[in-house]
Formats: sequence, structure tokens, C-alpha cells
Amino acid sequence: MSVPMIIGHRGAAGEAPENTLASFLLAVRQGAHAIELDVQLSKDGELVVIHDDTIDRTTNGKGAVAELTLEELKRYDAGLWYGEQFAGETIPTLAEVFERMPAECVVNVEIKGEMNGELERKLAELLYGSGRMETVLVSSFKHKSLKTLKLIAPEVRVGLGYTGDVIDHIAFAEAFGAEVFSLHPHHKLIGLHEIGLAVSKGIRVYPYTVNGEEDMRKLLQAGASGLITDYPGRMRAVLEQGI
Ligand code: G3P
Ligand code: MG
Repeated sequence: MSVPMIIGHRGAAGEAPENTLASFLLAVRQGAHAIELDVQLSKDGELVVIHDDTIDRTTNGKGAVAELTLEELKRYDAGLWYGEQFAGETIPTLAEVFERMPAECVVNVEIKGEMNGELERKLAELLYGSGRMETVLVSSFKHKSLKTLKLIAPEVRVGLGYTGDVIDHIAFAEAFGAEVFSLHPHHKLIGLHEIGLAVSKGIRVYPYTVNGEEDMRKLLQAGASGLITDYPGRMRAVLEQGI
């Protein structure tokens, strides 16, 4: 069995301001093999890394991401809300994250925002242009968006995010109609037995967002391919203790 992947949710969101370079770099220092981040388009069509559709919660500004240009988004501080030691962080572009993260760190790009084809085209362009195709995994709750991306860039690895009560997770993956690299279920909505079944069929399972040590152990014992966690350091410790 390969080592389960430690995937830092929005970086190390439990200990740093989510979706900032500080958070991503902390996740790597804590031993994450991968970081998860959320991407959407600014008003002027730049791929920017932020979870909510407004900047209100995670910056000192206000407004909808889709109504602000990159230059406007960059004016606001994205670290101060979390703690003074993070002052000066800004909303990163996806290109900046690709440049700053170690080449071997997998980036799980989660598509948020509108599904009009523009985001998917820009993302495919960046994946080809940055040489990151091999080390990126694109996931979303918007499966049509992933399908669009697959049509533009067939080699991209895609993961299905879901919160719903799925009876047969393998059939769910097959229903996508194109190759599915991984399933990203809410961790309370997939049975331990079902994790093992999916993994035995070659479908990776990365439950989110798993922060408690006991939950981590149970899911890892069940064969989860990795976990998406706000605390990559905690997961590393659990792995080091042995599952
Ligand atoms: O990608 C897993 C997880 O991040 C999905 O939920 O709301 O944290 O983006 P959310
Ligand atoms: Mg996310």
C-alpha cells in the first residue's frame, strides 16, 4: 500500500489564513504531500485562489470576487483577519501558487465559481503552460465543470467532490462518463467498507475535511488513499505513530 496522501485543506487552514501562500508553505513544512485550494475567476478573468464568492470573510475588503479585478483584489490583506503575524498576505493567483510550491507538491485545485467554460479554458491553458499537468488534481462539486475540463484537456486528473448520500460510490464514479482519478466525499458520508471497495477498484478516495485524530485513524485503517485536513501536521503525527 502506498503512503496515504496528506492533503492540506486550503493549506494548513487550522493554523494559518486559508488559501494564502503562508498557509500553503506551512502545510508543506508540516509534511503535506499536497495542498487543496479553491479557485475562481476575477472580474478580469484571472484565476484567483479564494473560497467564498465574496472577499468579506477572509480579507479586510468587501465585495464579490467576480466583480473585482485582480488589481483590486490584490489591494486587500488576506492574512490580518487571522492574525497580525500574517499581515501582508494577499489573495494569490493560481499561477503564483504553482510557481511558489515545491515541484513535487501535488496541488488539488477545487473549482468554485461560475461554470461558463471560461474558467475551465483558462485552467487548462495554465496547466499546459506551467508544466503542472502531472502534479495537479482538479476536483469540484460541479461535475459538469469537470466534464468540460476533461473535454478541453483529456489528460487532466479529476476528482469528484460530493456531500450527498451516495449508495454505490463505484457506480457514482462510473456515471461520470470519463476517467475519474479520485472521489472526494464528505468524510461522514462514506462508509469505511465503501472506502475499501472503491480503492480495490482503483479509485482513490480522499475524504474531506478530517481534523480529529480518531477520525483520521479510522479512515486510514479503512484504506483511504489520503485525507484532506486543516491540520497536516496532526495527520503526519498519526501516520508516524502507525495506523
Ligand atoms: O475539496 C474538499 C473541500 O475543500 C470541499 O469543501 O467548502 O472546503 O471547499 P470546501
Ligand atoms: Mg475546497
